[in-house]
Amino acid sequence: MAVTPAPDADWWRSAVIYQVYVRSFADGDGDGTGDLAGVRARLPYLAGLGVDALWFTPWYLSPLVDGGYDVADYRTVDPAFGTVAEAEKLIAEATEHGLRTIIDIVPNHVSDQHAWFRAALAAGPGSPERELFHFRPGRGPHGELPPNDWPSQFSPTASTWTRVPDGEWYLHLFAPEQPDLNWAHPAVRREHEDVLRYWFERGVAGVRIDSAALLAKDPALPDFTEGVDPHPFVDRDELHDIYRSWRAVADEYDGVFVGEVWLPDPERFARYLRPDELHTAFNFAFLSCPWEPAALRASIASTLAEHAPVGAPATWVLCNHDVTRTVTRYGREDTGFDFATKEFGTPSDPALGTRRARAAALLSLALPGAAYLYQGEELGLPEADVPRDRLQDPMHFRSGGTDPGRDGCRIPLPWTAAEPYAGFGSHAEPWLPQPAGWAAHAADVQAADPASMLTLYHTALRLRRTGAGFGDGPLTWLPAADGVLAFVREPDLACVVNLAAEPCELPSHTRLLLASGPLDDRGRLPQDTAVWLRV
Ligand code: GLC
Repeated sequence: MAVTPAPDADWWRSAVIYQVYVRSFADGDGDGTGDLAGVRARLPYLAGLGVDALWFTPWYLSPLVDGGYDVADYRTVDPAFGTVAEAEKLIAEATEHGLRTIIDIVPNHVSDQHAWFRAALAAGPGSPERELFHFRPGRGPHGELPPNDWPSQFSPTASTWTRVPDGEWYLHLFAPEQPDLNWAHPAVRREHEDVLRYWFERGVAGVRIDSAALLAKDPALPDFTEGVDPHPFVDRDELHDIYRSWRAVADEYDGVFVGEVWLPDPERFARYLRPDELHTAFNFAFLSCPWEPAALRASIASTLAEHAPVGAPATWVLCNHDVTRTVTRYGREDTGFDFATKEFGTPSDPALGTRRARAAALLSLALPGAAYLYQGEELGLPEADVPRDRLQDPMHFRSGGTDPGRDGCRIPLPWTAAEPYAGFGSHAEPWLPQPAGWAAHAADVQAADPASMLTLYHTALRLRRTGAGFGDGPLTWLPAADGVLAFVREPDLACVVNLAAEPCELPSHTRLLLASGPLDDRGRLPQDTAVWLRV
């Protein structure tokens, strides 16, 4: 049955948002790459899952050097994914299914195939076209050394500068195919505000802002000294003015923002969430937090404390297309996430990881604010070991081959166990290989299994939608044994998560709504298990 999204202006304060990595979601045209047709066909699945909105990773024209985060034209959908007309249909059909659409804008850089960058290359040194980027002469007697020593966001050992044939260098915090824009230039600001309007006009409800804390650069482009303040390219004060203008555009359409803001300092992070800036930002501190009771509690408490003064709701994120999948990470000895320490072959216990991921799902969905769910998380997909000769991620290549990169969390989804390629698309081999045993995780198998991860998410999301106490609002900690996290949400929802070796007693309650795993024979909550109660 068609349901249009509730016209609630505050929907984003409590929403569950499902991240669609289009390339790996579902292949509608059978060429091995996921596409908008594939998403349209699966809208009933997404609506049935009980999420409120879909965040789509970039679907624009792109050479796909960085999976679409290298945008050649914001006003064209990449032919691998579909057309603008099809995106409009998708947005409209999603709305009919009660799902809002969030798109992804990548303001820090464009593709080297973007018209602006091609024009800048052609126009040569000193041209106005080059002022849209950061072109500089090199250092050294012949300009053979890069203009500064900034480290790449893809690897501390990779350079952020590439020299062009006429001798100038251009800045790219990510891959060489992703030249950084000059945000001090008014045309760059104008263009992005136009792009926002272009997509808001087409019915999107929100925008995810990629690398949101990196846009502004110290105009002198000085060398980087660890600890220097202000940082030459991270979290500079100029950014807030940019986002205030963006907010004014969004307000015309009731659009909302979620910023990709990786910042260790909670106070600096919260500045992006002031009432006239971004509505929300991803909570990467929680995502990176190890599966340890004190660390989790501290992360939750500091998240709530940092959001409160600016009046913004928190977001709860366990994984996305850039990080190790939850099930695998929680099954490792080191259960935290850190880009700097990723390596090939880290052992993981899938049963342990799955048990913890189930508990983490109930924990994060009971916390105050909005929650994000990355495609395949509801299927409990593990991180895959992609054969080295099939790796595609520039993060792997920029590291000189030491970082496994992010392909392992981007494997095409398994939909139907009995079909070729587990139903991702029936005709061509998927762009990244699905590992052996992938079909065992297929959605159709899990839908029929009351003990599956999919059934857990399904039930949890239904309860969250229909019951009181979820989403935005206060949280009160309950006294609990060591290693146990317990809190209540008004009026009568309690969530208890046991991370201790010993089973714990449940607080007195009127109803057990949902448990992430079986209780013991005395009705106690075992280790790495979570429960929702009415108290
Ligand atoms: C963000 C994206 C990531 C991309 C990078 C460069 O971190 O999430 O996938 O590689 O920005 O655009």
